[in-house]
Amino acid sequence: MSIAIAPPCSPLRAAPVRAVAPPFVVHVGIVGPGKVGSALLAQLRLAAPRLLRDCRLELRLRAVSDSRHMWLDCDDEALNGRTHGAQTWRPAELDEFAAYVAGDGGGPAVLADCSASDFVADRYAGWLAAGIHVVTPNKRAASGPLERWRRIGAAAGASGARLHYEGTVGAGLPVVHTLRDLLDTGDELVSVEGMLSGTLAWLFHRFDGSLPFSALVREAHALGYTEPDPRDDLSGMDVARKLVILAREAGLPLSLEDVRIGGLVPDALVHGDREMFMDHLEALDAPMAALLAQARAAGGVLRHVARLHGRKASVGVEAVAPDHAFAHARLSDNVVRFTTRRYCDNALVVQGPGAGPDVTAAAVFADLLRVAGAMGVKRCAC
Ligand SMILES: NC(=O)c1ccc[n+]([C@@H]2O[C@H](COP(=O)([O-])OP(=O)(O)OC[C@H]3O[C@@H](n4cnc5c(N)ncnc54)[C@H](OP(=O)(O)O)[C@@H]3O)[C@@H](O)[C@H]2O)c1
Repeated sequence: MSIAIAPPCSPLRAAPVRAVAPPFVVHVGIVGPGKVGSALLAQLRLAAPRLLRDCRLELRLRAVSDSRHMWLDCDDEALNGRTHGAQTWRPAELDEFAAYVAGDGGGPAVLADCSASDFVADRYAGWLAAGIHVVTPNKRAASGPLERWRRIGAAAGASGARLHYEGTVGAGLPVVHTLRDLLDTGDELVSVEGMLSGTLAWLFHRFDGSLPFSALVREAHALGYTEPDPRDDLSGMDVARKLVILAREAGLPLSLEDVRIGGLVPDALVHGDREMFMDHLEALDAPMAALLAQARAAGGVLRHVARLHGRKASVGVEAVAPDHAFAHARLSDNVVRFTTRRYCDNALVVQGPGAGPDVTAAAVFADLLRVAGAMGVKRCAC
């Protein structure tokens, strides 16, 4: 794999503008150039000239790392001397990577963690303590061990470095910041009700009994809508992580163990490799057909719903009334309904496409711009 790191004269450092203030430089490092990380790299390149022109903001991409390699940019003279250009890699070492992105402290540094790795999340506290900002769609830190999450919060609090993770829930939809704004302005959360998985929304929208559930899972898998192993969607664990993130955002010290998770994977298929699971998918059909029949008998439709009420958190399939907002959501939409003291008669609803590398990368990018905005970089062209 090769990654084009912007050299000093790249579009990320667009043409000099005469007689204007020098740009505000933010050093950027990207961990995880997978689907989301690659989309973020493309968006950074595309937006760079406009940000420089309109906001006097220069996002200087310093380095990229995957799990085994890291690419450091052209400022590395030793590397350039050896290789006639820095488009080469070294074995990944994340603390060395972070220190390189931060450089000599001449400007703020932001690391965008676009992995799904606990190993990377384990490093947040150290990075934040060193004053390095972190933006991420990786759910591991915000839904992982509470003790680690508290250490991360304490490190950010002590140094003033920022951690933003809007992309963890609803991809590009403004879910986490909406909740944050409600609470920061004195509102109180009563409950959250959501369809937090585009994959599961798609499956239940399509599941009307005309095809067995297993056929729909196979179709979703073939279309790339599911994770490579569909059990990662069907287990409900990913949705439970999102619910924990929202609960913690609301100040509730919840962990995954506190969420009642009604997974769709039969016990006999929980373990074993992906091929084994795909070979036995039909085992889902009878229980799912029974659930559909029950929902219909009650006059409802099946949906995969996450609920948080007080400290009670649950995730699973349930029958909702045909006039419920979840019954009418578009095919793979995420829907989050916040009931609060202010929004008590009519919930505040955030709805739209809740998955996809482009929209997720845009959430990470917007978080990065939030960091710059907090340092005084203006965000409008006026
Ligand atoms: N895709 C979406 O629509 C979507 C939506 C919302 C949120 N997210 C979240 O966004 C994140 C990225 O998703 P994705 O779809 O882009 O995944 P992906 O394509 O699998 O990419 C993951 C990247 O992380 C890297 N990585 C893994 N472990 C690492 C480590 N220890 N150190 C450094 N890099 C490491 C991988 O590198 P290797 O190739 O070396 O393993 C790969 O480049 C995940 O947390 C996901 O839950 C994704």
